[in-house]
Amino acid sequence: MLADDDRRRLLEAAKLAASRAYCPYSRFRVGAAVLSGSGAVFAGCNVENASYGLTICAERNAVFQLAASGESPPLVRAVLIYTPTPAPTAPCGACRQVLNEFGPGCLVVSTCDGPGVIEATLDRLLPGAFGPRDLA
Ligand code: THU
Repeated sequence: MLADDDRRRLLEAAKLAASRAYCPYSRFRVGAAVLSGSGAVFAGCNVENASYGLTICAERNAVFQLAASGESPPLVRAVLIYTPTPAPTAPCGACRQVLNEFGPGCLVVSTCDGPGVIEATLDRLLPGAFGPRDLA
């Protein structure tokens, strides 16, 4: 469950992040914002690189902002992804795996400039995930 106010805060942060995307190669802007265990919001955008494979996605950038904030433990309760496109964008496989580290049951919401919304829990998007418990 995501409270209306948290959804508004996440959307605002993700839109601002998308406006800051560095994507001269794909021209595909992505903004993401995560809601932490404390209720704080951390945002990230995609940052591309001339060496294409070094590009970082918006979702991972946002999760790493949370981890780097020092919030302990760094829990992801929800992530909202925004793309200025007619259809919503689901997180890539690498980002699903990184989200799983801190929010295996988190809510994933993808929004865009059209009417479509993707809303699912991470365990549905990444069933049977490998995670921290496998190393315990
Ligand atoms: N991208 C993201 O930021 N998140 C995703 O989940 C999928 C793809 C970015 C990476 C690259 O800068 C651009 O979108 C095109 O793949």
